[in-house]
Amino acid sequence: MEPSNAHATAPGTAAPPELRTCFKDALASWASGVSVVTTRLGDLVYGLTVSSFTSLSMEPPLVLVCLANTNRMPGMIRESRRFAISLLSSEQNAASTYFARSGREPTSGFPEIGEERTNAGMPAVKDAAAFLCCDLFNEMVVGDHTIIVGRVVEAVARHDREPLLYYRRQYRVLGSDGASR
Ligand SMILES: Cc1cc2nc3c(=O)[nH]c(=O)nc-3n(C[C@H](O)[C@H](O)[C@H](O)COP(=O)(O)O)c2cc1C
Repeated sequence: MEPSNAHATAPGTAAPPELRTCFKDALASWASGVSVVTTRLGDLVYGLTVSSFTSLSMEPPLVLVCLANTNRMPGMIRESRRFAISLLSSEQNAASTYFARSGREPTSGFPEIGEERTNAGMPAVKDAAAFLCCDLFNEMVVGDHTIIVGRVVEAVARHDREPLLYYRRQYRVLGSDGASR
């Protein structure tokens, strides 16, 4: 199949509109899992759907997520110094949609989705395929996002769950034929 289009830009210049479209299309061709980053400040909890989760280091155990600077989450993590990352299971696309909704405020809990707490008291999505609880290790503002590096202090994996996947702007499950769920 022919590529949809090909555009390039010189280093240091703003991307032209045609490149923006091709850039987004290229990124949509990358299949990922779906995670929800959550944190707590006092009694208030907040979560955000994130596909930019990446494992980073074994010694020390580090992971990273890239969070939009326009969202409140980078600032909340800067303040709380701690967060959880729930790796969603194939049954949890409703949780992904919930935590991707724009304009949400921190709340006292996630009753619509179901919440559990890590040993360190961070909120996490109940019954996710896995979760990691992290201390803020490092952060770097890069472009319009902030790279948040977390040092993992707790990790739980549930081997009876399959992952939720995201590919070409649709949720998928392992072995699916591409039909959206
Ligand atoms: C599957 C999926 C993956 C996403 N991945 C990221 C991500 O890695 N980083 C990020 O900042 N936002 C990501 N988003 C967008 C946020 O979840 C959220 O929709 C967006 O920040 C809008 O909320 P806001 O307008 O209140 O900031 C993703 C959304 C979806 C549906």
